[in-house]
Amino acid sequence: MILSSIWVLTFFSFIYVNGVLPIEATHHSFRELQNLSSDYYKQPYRTAYHFQPPKNWINDPNGPLRYKGLYHLFYQYNPKGAVWGNIVWAHSVSKDLVNWAPLDPAIFPSQPSDINGCWSGSTTLIHGGKPVILYTGINPLNQQVQNLAYPKNLSDPFLREWVKSPKNPLMAPTSANKINSSSFRDPTTSWLGKDGYWRVLIGSKRNTLGLAILYKSKDFVNWAKAKYPLHSVQGTGMWECPDFFPILNDSPIGIDTSFNGDNIRHVLKVSLDDKKHDYYMIGSYDIVKDKFIPDKAFKDSESFLRYDYGKYYASKTFFDDGKNRRILLGWVNESSSVAHDIKKGWSGIHAIPRAIWLDKSGKQLVQWPVVEIEKLRANPVNWPTKLLKGGHLLQINGVTAAQADVEISFEVNNLGEAEVLDNWTDPQSLCSQKGPTYKSGLGPFGLLVFASKGLQEYTSVYFKIFRYQHKNLVLLCSDQSRSSLDNNNDKTNYGTFVDVDPLHEKLSLRSLIDHSVVESFGGEGKACITARVYPTLAINDEAQLYVFNNGTADVKLTRLSAWSLKKAQINGKIKIDKTGL
Ligand code: FRU
Repeated sequence: MILSSIWVLTFFSFIYVNGVLPIEATHHSFRELQNLSSDYYKQPYRTAYHFQPPKNWINDPNGPLRYKGLYHLFYQYNPKGAVWGNIVWAHSVSKDLVNWAPLDPAIFPSQPSDINGCWSGSTTLIHGGKPVILYTGINPLNQQVQNLAYPKNLSDPFLREWVKSPKNPLMAPTSANKINSSSFRDPTTSWLGKDGYWRVLIGSKRNTLGLAILYKSKDFVNWAKAKYPLHSVQGTGMWECPDFFPILNDSPIGIDTSFNGDNIRHVLKVSLDDKKHDYYMIGSYDIVKDKFIPDKAFKDSESFLRYDYGKYYASKTFFDDGKNRRILLGWVNESSSVAHDIKKGWSGIHAIPRAIWLDKSGKQLVQWPVVEIEKLRANPVNWPTKLLKGGHLLQINGVTAAQADVEISFEVNNLGEAEVLDNWTDPQSLCSQKGPTYKSGLGPFGLLVFASKGLQEYTSVYFKIFRYQHKNLVLLCSDQSRSSLDNNNDKTNYGTFVDVDPLHEKLSLRSLIDHSVVESFGGEGKACITARVYPTLAINDEAQLYVFNNGTADVKLTRLSAWSLKKAQINGKIKIDKTGL
């Protein structure tokens, strides 16, 4: 009750400030926001429960944190259009990581050290929980420098106003430090060593050497560059948006970024600008030498692990001290043309926040949509176990197929039927060569989402089992080749192997379907694939959902649970009483 009155107050002060005092260019977008007609929200590709602003361009999630019980998400935003440019830090808050309310932009160009753009960065909680932001500013010479901002009023749970340090920039390229001034960006959340020094990483490159430059500071204001980077890898190019965090060896519980000790592994994630994918390494952090030592030496970018084998970039984690978990947020770009984005008036969404932890094997991470998303579930459909014969397609009725959550799982007993692979092929090529209509022994079996009534359009997410050098390989594909009759979209097929043993384990798949996005989680979160699709027929109520087996052998469907997902309150017309606060 008290909180909901805070919401009411906030809402009205928000309208007042934006209606009466439009001083900053960045505030302008909010006045326009009030004017969007209700038809605007009926566009077929706007999502219902994924994070996006009412209009315009967004990219990276920035500085996520939990403060006084509220989640804060900042993000790269163009207040002036549906293409990248004029970048500010837009700001939203949430109580549950599902429903979001917009606030004024938190950081926008205002001083020489950021006058040409406020680019990505992170929040750190210092001195007993006081949030501070480090972000990249673009100065009048278009050099990338690092700036500090802190909340004006720490008693405001909404952290509405941010003050920039008069000492900005705190880190800058100079002739002495030889930093490449156009490749020096995206500070991480900082961590505190036992020696009392804060450490932060800045993404960079030297020729094709990708690196995470390390800086140290006692007071968070005066920063000195360490002699060596925390880590670097030849041939990887620019490392954008690095993320460095500890994880427990034997538990899904998350820990604070500064935590270190026994039973801890470290993860270094980098967003490779050349590849436009997020890659991570698991390893040890040598606190004496300030070096990260990955368990697996890097061979080529294909040998790196990825958070997501579809479209997913510039991600960032934070420690949620409310539920003791580490949460991963990521940007999902459009797969449509710029002309299409301009026409629809927006571009970019964020993936559903995922809890992230170390797999039992210690070899990879596991990700799962935050449990809060399950609050949106309605109209449950549950099937008893059934045999799914080769060549069969069964419709899943009873849910809104364009806005749904589906969990299925298969059991296979006849592994002898698996197709034999003679030569090693990378999974993505395997998905393209042997698509959803290519019948093998075991598979393809999985889901057809966004299917039109006559099956002129569909996106298929499926498994296929191969035998390679006496081992069973489980392939997970997301095939967009028939997703839309409109050929102006990028319909790349995505694929990865899933580390499950089909002899002893079930093959599970969960897909979150939301109008123009399907986020799929194979092997209980061991393999994730996010795809953007733009059906022309299979939109809204016209979309259909199926489970299928196009292999020659039968498989057992041991679980099918599906739900319609209700619309979340995402930054648009705020219904304060419905936010659950
Ligand atoms: C990643 C990125 C960052 C940069 C920001 C600019 O998508 O290029 O490296 O800070 O976007 O918007």
